[in-house]
Amino acid sequence: MSSSQTKRPLSSAKTGPISGDIRVPGDKSISHRSLMFGGLAIGTTKVTGLLEGEDVLATADAMRKLGATVTRDDDGTWHVTGVGVGALREPDSVIDMGNAGTGIRLMAGIVATHPITTFFTGDASLCKRPMGRVADPLSEFGAQFITRDRGRPPMAVIGTDEAKPVTYTLPMASAQVKSAVMLAGLNTTGTTTVIEPKPSRDHTERMLRHFGVDVDVKVNDDGGRTVSLTGPVEMKAADIVVPTDPSSAAFPMVAALINPDSRVIIRDVCLNPLRTGLITTLIEMGGDITITNEREEAGETIGDLVVTGKNRLKGIVVPAERAPSMIDEYPVLAVAAAYADGETRMCDLEELRVKESDRLAAVAAGLEANGVIHRIEGDDLIVTGGVVPGGGMVETHLDHRIAMSFLVLGLGAEKPVSVDDANPIATSFPNFEKLMGDMGAKFALHS
Ligand code: S3P
Repeated sequence: MSSSQTKRPLSSAKTGPISGDIRVPGDKSISHRSLMFGGLAIGTTKVTGLLEGEDVLATADAMRKLGATVTRDDDGTWHVTGVGVGALREPDSVIDMGNAGTGIRLMAGIVATHPITTFFTGDASLCKRPMGRVADPLSEFGAQFITRDRGRPPMAVIGTDEAKPVTYTLPMASAQVKSAVMLAGLNTTGTTTVIEPKPSRDHTERMLRHFGVDVDVKVNDDGGRTVSLTGPVEMKAADIVVPTDPSSAAFPMVAALINPDSRVIIRDVCLNPLRTGLITTLIEMGGDITITNEREEAGETIGDLVVTGKNRLKGIVVPAERAPSMIDEYPVLAVAAAYADGETRMCDLEELRVKESDRLAAVAAGLEANGVIHRIEGDDLIVTGGVVPGGGMVETHLDHRIAMSFLVLGLGAEKPVSVDDANPIATSFPNFEKLMGDMGAKFALHS
């Protein structure tokens, strides 16, 4: 989103039971990848269920600037005609990735091993985020990077046409870094290998296979994974049905759990086991969540969630190992914890500090503003639940998930909860207010 846009403060208020049978928008991770991989493949890829949020639309524009043809039918079906791996053309203007960390980091991997120079920029939030985590391994292929302020965008990538294959051990659990390295490997002669100490979401591996790429995945003795592919590869167009986003389903899910007598069905949710940490956690907290109609589509498991507010939640310890499978869900988990009996400890949240905002700080400030007892110990966040006083104004720092999480907090609080800017919600969940409002959630523009 544009940082110069006028802020749109929004409040939410105690709502009572919510009910509905809904579909949240398409998965953001899968949507980005479907456009990128379609743009690298030979032939035309049809994408249905694409998330039409600002982040993904920025990726569509980026792929067009690099030579792919990306179009949308009136019924919401997208078509991507690719140029083939190795054949991207040099963009003649700066590529603006908006708010999208996934967009800029994966795109950096793609262009790093093409003989072109690409300039990337983004909004005020993206221009604060570290790119060194991708620039370091991608430099090993032979690409060069120019960034400002110790690795922040704007960023120029000078790609190489003599890429050397790389074996890289991830210093942090990050699907974005893993994917950037693998995507650079597509146009590199030889075997590119990524070793990840903790498994992170594997949509890149699954979708590359769907496009005909041979991706080898081994589970290591320590539970980590070694992922490799041998390039240069040829990718073949393959249709994609994008499942709905579990990170967006998280908001109606928690809203239903904290409002007794609620009942919500959420359809066609991506249930990739590396994305379901929040569901596991909420069930451990006593939440009534049932998965039905489980099936496979385009290499991903999907299903429907039935969530009710019949049980009161209780506090638990959320182990550090679970963090990669629910990394985007901690803000809304902190909201669930605010309504749970006792203490919830969320362990090892260091990565939250480099998301769309410093999410650990933003969540703590939002809880503070609304009278929720909490503390930070090292990289752990501990929330003591009970009655939520509310009444506070939360700064969103251009972070969609902070905005949505605190609007959900307000749905059960004693006094309304406000966020200073609801605009960032459009990056991942453009119809959030309408969908939640239709189920009974009370939102009002804050004057
Ligand atoms: C994503 C990976 C995660 C996640 C982001 C989407 C992806 O980031 O937070 O929203 O699509 O690969 P990290 O890889 O930095 O953990």
